[in-house]
Amino acid sequence: HRHLLGIEGLTRDQILALLDAAESFFDVSRRSVRKVPTLRGKTIINLFYEASTRTRTSFELAGKRLSADVINISASTSSTVKGESLLDTVQNLQSMQPDVLVIRHSASGAPHHVAARIRAAVVNAGDGTHEHPTQALLDAFTIRRKKGAFEGLTVAICGDVLHSRVARSNVRLLNALGARVRLAGPRTLLPPAAESLGAEVYPRLEPALEGADVVMMLRVQRERLQGAFLPTSREYSRAFGLNAARLSLAKPDALVMHPGPMNRGVEIDPAVADGPQSVILDQVEAGVAVRMAVLWVLAAESNEPPPAAG
Ligand code: CP
Repeated sequence: HRHLLGIEGLTRDQILALLDAAESFFDVSRRSVRKVPTLRGKTIINLFYEASTRTRTSFELAGKRLSADVINISASTSSTVKGESLLDTVQNLQSMQPDVLVIRHSASGAPHHVAARIRAAVVNAGDGTHEHPTQALLDAFTIRRKKGAFEGLTVAICGDVLHSRVARSNVRLLNALGARVRLAGPRTLLPPAAESLGAEVYPRLEPALEGADVVMMLRVQRERLQGAFLPTSREYSRAFGLNAARLSLAKPDALVMHPGPMNRGVEIDPAVADGPQSVILDQVEAGVAVRMAVLWVLAAESNEPPPAAG
């Protein structure tokens, strides 16, 4: 690999190799081993043009637990506010010789645009409504730890699919690994020709939940709605919120997932988010190991052996 721009373009074997590498880093990510020297001397820049709690923190921790030097830049406190363009920004950062540039941007395709123009390896940390590959990888890591395999699983991804880069990356990854994917949401929040993504499409929540092994809830991305469709939270919750009664339609051992940030009481009832089937915080924990694996693949010297931890 030279960059990680999306799940699109990754083979099943490449995805499984990343998940296996994440397994080998899991102990370090959970701090039963404190740190490994794998990326000593490497520099990672996190460049975030959109808000983030989980992705940014876990990329920073992943880099640090691999002994890399990690720099964080928020566009809101950078010279972006003085009018500097994305390309000028990354070319200036390139002059400081980073090995990896992790980028989040509201424009779909921004990481691809950057990757074609700089020497550093580029990781897409979420671009517009397009892809969020490390989120899909950490979701897959969590599912595999809990369910063992993907073949035969039915995964329902529910909510604002239209604006969700998480949904797009997950559909691609789950298809590649042999799971069945259902997409459910209000018709106005389902992408046109959603079936062409490789999923069954449901304009109601209940039939999508029936017999599901995994229920993944998505936030309504009001910041991307531009006033086009704004159900009240109460209306949305009544029709599309995951509560205990609706969850009982899924398999009794179904996993409840959410990429975060959650809007409690809107797309997910607090009792479900905090309930025994929820693996939402396991997903966050997996994020560090998965991002360690991605940084290792992109930044470690090619002749370096896999990590000893694990
Ligand atoms: N899931 C996710 O990308 O969360 P953040 O926006 O907080 O990084």
